[in-house]
Amino acid sequence: MIGGGYVGLVSAACFAEFGVEVAVVEADGTKLAALRAGRMPIYEPGLERLVTENVAAGRLSFGDDLAAGVADAEAVFIAVGTPTRRGDGHADLSYVYAAVEQVARVLRGYTVIVTKSTVPVGTGRRISEIVRQVRPELEFDVASNPEFLREGSAINDFMRPDRVVIGCESARAREVLRGLYRPLYLIETPIVFTGIETAELTKYAANAFLAMKVTFINEMADLCEHVGADVHDVARGIGLDGRIGRKFLHPGPGFGGSCFPKDTLALMRIAQDAGAPSRLVETTVAVNEARKAGMAARIIAACGGSVRGKVIGVLGLTFKPETDDMRDSPSLPILARLVGDGAVVRAFDPEGMEQARPLLPDGVSYCHDALDAAQGADALVVITEWNEFRALSPARLRAAMRGKVLVDLRNVYDPVAMTQAGFSYHAIGRVGG
Ligand SMILES: NC(=O)c1ccc[n+]([C@@H]2O[C@H](COP(=O)([O-])OP(=O)(O)OC[C@H]3O[C@@H](n4cnc5c(N)ncnc54)[C@H](O)[C@@H]3O)[C@@H](O)[C@H]2O)c1
Repeated sequence: MIGGGYVGLVSAACFAEFGVEVAVVEADGTKLAALRAGRMPIYEPGLERLVTENVAAGRLSFGDDLAAGVADAEAVFIAVGTPTRRGDGHADLSYVYAAVEQVARVLRGYTVIVTKSTVPVGTGRRISEIVRQVRPELEFDVASNPEFLREGSAINDFMRPDRVVIGCESARAREVLRGLYRPLYLIETPIVFTGIETAELTKYAANAFLAMKVTFINEMADLCEHVGADVHDVARGIGLDGRIGRKFLHPGPGFGGSCFPKDTLALMRIAQDAGAPSRLVETTVAVNEARKAGMAARIIAACGGSVRGKVIGVLGLTFKPETDDMRDSPSLPILARLVGDGAVVRAFDPEGMEQARPLLPDGVSYCHDALDAAQGADALVVITEWNEFRALSPARLRAAMRGKVLVDLRNVYDPVAMTQAGFSYHAIGRVGG
C-alpha cells in the first residue's frame, strides 16, 4: 500500500483483517514514526485497535523502504493524495506518477498496479506507459479500484461496502483482485468489474452526484426560508420516495472535505477537456462556493449587522463529525471572515483543533470544551454536528454566554427548546430559523 493516509491506512488495516499480508510504504517521516510507535497519525473511530491487532498478528507493517515493501507483492495499491492542482482545478497527479515510477523500478515479477486514489479518466493508461518506459521487460497489469469509504465510518464502509468497483483488462489481474476481496464476495457484496476508464469515471460520478444532492437540499433550504416552509419536512417528504432516498438530504453550510470539492472540480475539467462539459457539475461547484462564502454573512446578520468587537463561540471546525480532517472545511472561510471583520473567536472541536490551528487566522482561541467556547460569547455558532453538541444543556449554554444569538448551521437543535431557553435561534431552512 503506497501511502498511509486516510485511505491507505484504513484499506491496509482492513485487507490485513481479511487475512492478507500488507506492507504500508509511507513517505512522511512524522506519520511513519507515529505508526511505528503504535500511534495513529489520523483520527478515525476503531482504527487504532484494528491496526494494533493486525500488527501484532504479523499481517500489517509500516516502512519507507519501497523495494522491501513491494518486493513479492501480488498487488501494489497506490493510495497517495490527488489534491486540486494549483490554478486550474485539475487533479494533481504528481504524487501518483512519482509513486508509480518508484514502484516500477523495484518490482521483481508479475504485479498488479492498482490505483485506489481517485484519479481522472486516462490515468490508468498513462500509468501503463510509465511502467513500460521504466521497465520494458516487466510483466504487470494496471487496475483501477476506486475507494468509496467515508471518513468517520471508514472501517465499516471498507468491510461492508455497498459495492466494490474494479476496472481491469486481464483475467489474471481480475483473479488477483477477486482473491483480495474474497471475504466481501462471501458476504454477497456486489463486485462490479468494468474497464479501467469506466471505473475511474464511476468514482467521480458518485461523488459529483452526492455533492449535487447536498447542494440541491441546500438550495431548497434557502427557498424554505423565503416561503415559510421547513426543509426537514421537505427532505423527509422527498427522501421517503425510494427513487430519491433519504441520505445526503441534510442542509448545512455547504459541502467541504478532502473529496467532494476537489473531485467535483476535477470532473468539471475532465468533462470540459473531453468536449462534453457537465453544466450540472459546474453549477454545483459554483453554488457551493457561493454558499460557503455566504455563511459568514448569515452569522454577521444574526449579530445585528456587525461582529466588530463581538465574542463569537464556535462549535465544530472539521468538515464533518468523527474526523480530524480540516481539508476544505466550511469553517475556514467562515472564521477567516469573522476574524477579518473584527470578531473575537473562541473555538472548540473534539478532534480537529491540531489540524485547524495552522489553517485558521491568528487570534482564534482554542477552548477546552463547548461550554468554554460559549463562555462570555455574544453569539454561538454550530459549524460541525458532533454528537456531543447535541447533548448540551440549552440552559447551561445560555447561562455561559453574554449574548443570546445561536446560529445553528447544522440544525442540531430543536428550535422550540432553544427559543424557550432564551436564545435568538437561527437555523437553516426551518420555520423559526
Ligand atoms: N479521504 C477520503 O475520505 C477518501 C475517500 C475515497 C477516496 N479518497 C482518495 O484517496 C486518495 C488518498 O486520499 P487520503 O485522504 O488518504 O490522502 P492523505 O493525504 O491522507 O494520504 C496520502 C498519503 O500518501 C503519502 N505519500 C505520498 N506520496 C508517497 C510516496 N511516493 N510514497 C509513499 N507515501 C506517499 C503521503 O505522505 C500521505 O500520508 C485521494 O486520491 C483521495 O481522493 C479519499
